[in-house]
Amino acid sequence: MTLSRRRFVTLPLATLALPAAFAQPVSESARITRAIPSTGERLPAVGLGTAVVFERDDAETRQRAAEVLQALVAGGGRLVDTASTYRDAETVLGSVFASTRLRDRLFVTTKVEAPDINEFKRSLERLGVASVDLLQLHNVRDSHQSLARFRDWKAQGLCRYIGITSTFHRDFAALEAVLKNEKPDFVQIDYSIDNRTAEERILPLAADVRAAVLTALPFGRARLFGTVRGKPVPDWANDFAASWAQFFLKFLLADERVTAVIPGTSNAEHMADNLGAMRGRLPNPDERKRMAAFVAAL
Ligand SMILES: NC(=O)c1ccc[n+]([C@@H]2O[C@H](COP(=O)([O-])OP(=O)(O)OC[C@H]3O[C@@H](n4cnc5c(N)ncnc54)[C@H](OP(=O)(O)O)[C@@H]3O)[C@@H](O)[C@H]2O)c1
Repeated sequence: MTLSRRRFVTLPLATLALPAAFAQPVSESARITRAIPSTGERLPAVGLGTAVVFERDDAETRQRAAEVLQALVAGGGRLVDTASTYRDAETVLGSVFASTRLRDRLFVTTKVEAPDINEFKRSLERLGVASVDLLQLHNVRDSHQSLARFRDWKAQGLCRYIGITSTFHRDFAALEAVLKNEKPDFVQIDYSIDNRTAEERILPLAADVRAAVLTALPFGRARLFGTVRGKPVPDWANDFAASWAQFFLKFLLADERVTAVIPGTSNAEHMADNLGAMRGRLPNPDERKRMAAFVAAL
């Protein structure tokens, strides 16, 4: 089913009706969820990233965002990840929250560049919320970085969890130091089947300090889809992956240290496809090796 451009721009958000395939509620027990180590709260293992895809605030993007968020919730997902620096993405999300009842069904995470209350308040205003579920310090560079202010804001109820992120491998030493010293609730790093640095450097430490792990760039910003273009998912993977997206995401979720993957998409069908990665079985360790070898050989 194709969602036409015309439909996005003409449908009022408040009357948004999803195609039946996206509107089917998924039973709670069918989903893969993972516990946030610091509290035990369980999160559905597939979320949504908003970099690039929701960065321009116009009617079409708002409509697409509403469709994708509806598909996320209808498919049993909760987590949506944004940042103060994703141009208009927070504003686009805020417009969807204002015109739907989705906010209360989501686990909303954002990022600030520094522990600066003005920057954080601007994010809250743009999102139109009094608090977020997770506040992350974006792109940590300083190994002596303190998260004391983040802890104050958590104590004040402005966020429920705090975290740190980086996708710059040259900064992973700083990320590791802050993870060790400050023990945030979450760490977010880039991790995909063809980009596995985090397996050696960040994931073992995250497990030691009991930090939940969000994996950014799970498709390498669509690089992986280019790698497999024109090729079918191999027969031996059909039992657990109905699409390439599910193949790539299930590879990550088979690593129990991953709490949630956060693929970006502006397309409700892709969102529903991605959510399929938290259903059915995960590949076993031998299959996981075979998956990595298969992609490496392409
Ligand atoms: N330092 C940091 O903290 C940091 C850095 C980078 C990213 N991030 C986070 O990670 C999130 C994900 O990164 P990303 O969005 O840049 O890259 P990504 O998730 O690796 O890839 C997104 C791309 O994949 C396509 N796609 C998604 N689902 C698909 C499907 N089922 N089938 C085919 N194509 C599909 C999307 O296109 P369509 O729109 O057409 O679906 C989009 O072009 C970001 O949104 C952000 O939240 C964090």
